[in-house]
Amino acid sequence: MSIENGGHGGNGRFAELSAELAATRGSLLKARHLPGWFYTSPEVFEREIDTIFMKEWLCVGRVEEYENPGDYSALRIAGEPLLIARDNQGKLGAFRNVCRHRGVEVASGQGNTKAFKCPYHAWIYDLDGKLAGAPHTKEVDGFDLSNCSLPRVKLDTWGGYIFVNFDPEAIDLGAYLDLDGIREYAAYLKPEETRTSDKFSYVLPCNWKFVPENVMDMYHVGVIHKDSFGGHFPINDFRYVLDRHGYHANYESFTMAPKGATLFGPMPWLDGKVTDRFACTIWIRPSMNIFARHDLIQPIVTTPIDVDHTMVTVYTQLPKKFFNEPAFDEKNKIYADFIRMVLSEDNAMLESLQNGVRSRAFKPGPTVKLERAIHHALNYYLDRVYGADETSREERLRENRAMLREAAASLPAQDGGYSKRVTNAAE
Ligand code: FES
Ligand SMILES: [Fe+2]
Repeated sequence: MSIENGGHGGNGRFAELSAELAATRGSLLKARHLPGWFYTSPEVFEREIDTIFMKEWLCVGRVEEYENPGDYSALRIAGEPLLIARDNQGKLGAFRNVCRHRGVEVASGQGNTKAFKCPYHAWIYDLDGKLAGAPHTKEVDGFDLSNCSLPRVKLDTWGGYIFVNFDPEAIDLGAYLDLDGIREYAAYLKPEETRTSDKFSYVLPCNWKFVPENVMDMYHVGVIHKDSFGGHFPINDFRYVLDRHGYHANYESFTMAPKGATLFGPMPWLDGKVTDRFACTIWIRPSMNIFARHDLIQPIVTTPIDVDHTMVTVYTQLPKKFFNEPAFDEKNKIYADFIRMVLSEDNAMLESLQNGVRSRAFKPGPTVKLERAIHHALNYYLDRVYGADETSREERLRENRAMLREAAASLPAQDGGYSKRVTNAAE
């Protein structure tokens, strides 16, 4: 499919500016970043909601946040109201949080409940989303409670993470993750054996795409993070393994605590298998970036609010046994303070990016080797918004294999089985 016709009519702004987009399709060292309007246009944002957020599997939390029947959360993803609840049989469910009467959100916030009572006219829905009562509707012609359930949204879990998919026709979560080899690659991290020790969210005045791009950007680490964790981060050894849509990478970095000093020691299942400089990252497109060290897992989940506002949710997960250690709370607070400090170093850049790409003067600059993952992500956006370009993808994957072959000889031995994975990817 050509970029020019874009697969969706291709007239107006999309077609006019196609030459700018073609520059991002090029191979890494000839490519350009995306034009500014791709981050500021309400038209592009709407298109991304339809083609990305209403189609892909999205992480919305952890299983342990819904321990008991009746535990629930009301969320919004790109404005779409969503309700997650555990029912009386212990099953997690996801629903459109939109009343079947006039559309008010039937639940808000989070907590535990026996049923959801719409705050406007008191229609009552049970934990399965079924309408259980609707005052003053007896005389309504043809009204049937059983036809008025909250629409279900697909929900599944992997690694203790809850994912939803708004598209009833979507492929299963497992198959979706397998397209990028994520279940196989991440198995040794055992996220399902961890619990959330810290979770926080904040809203940034920038387009959602800048958040995953920023956390996969190894170019800035030695600049704005040089005094926190960037000082002992050998970026030139960073080896991306591009998958079909996403990517993963193992690299060397100390843990995310002051001076890189671990406070609990390694996660038991990595003990003796990796060094204290083990680090890895996995991008689960479109909106989840998982980071791990030898002692913790820290996912960052990005949720669009509107074209230039984005919610960022950051988790720290530790092995269950760490929670029983003496001084757990004090140690946990040290990790919690550190990740807040590191991410706050990014915030001014993210706000400024949004402001800068709005400028009439902005012309996108080149992508460099340290932006290999970003370049892959930019092309993923284009694939979704304009239709896949297999030629461009093949070129990226071919270049990546060549880079990995070159690097394979010097990989460290203590890498949690990574060498094998790289060797396979390079073939
Ligand atoms: S909008 Fe929910 S009961 Fe009327
Ligand atoms: Fe950063």
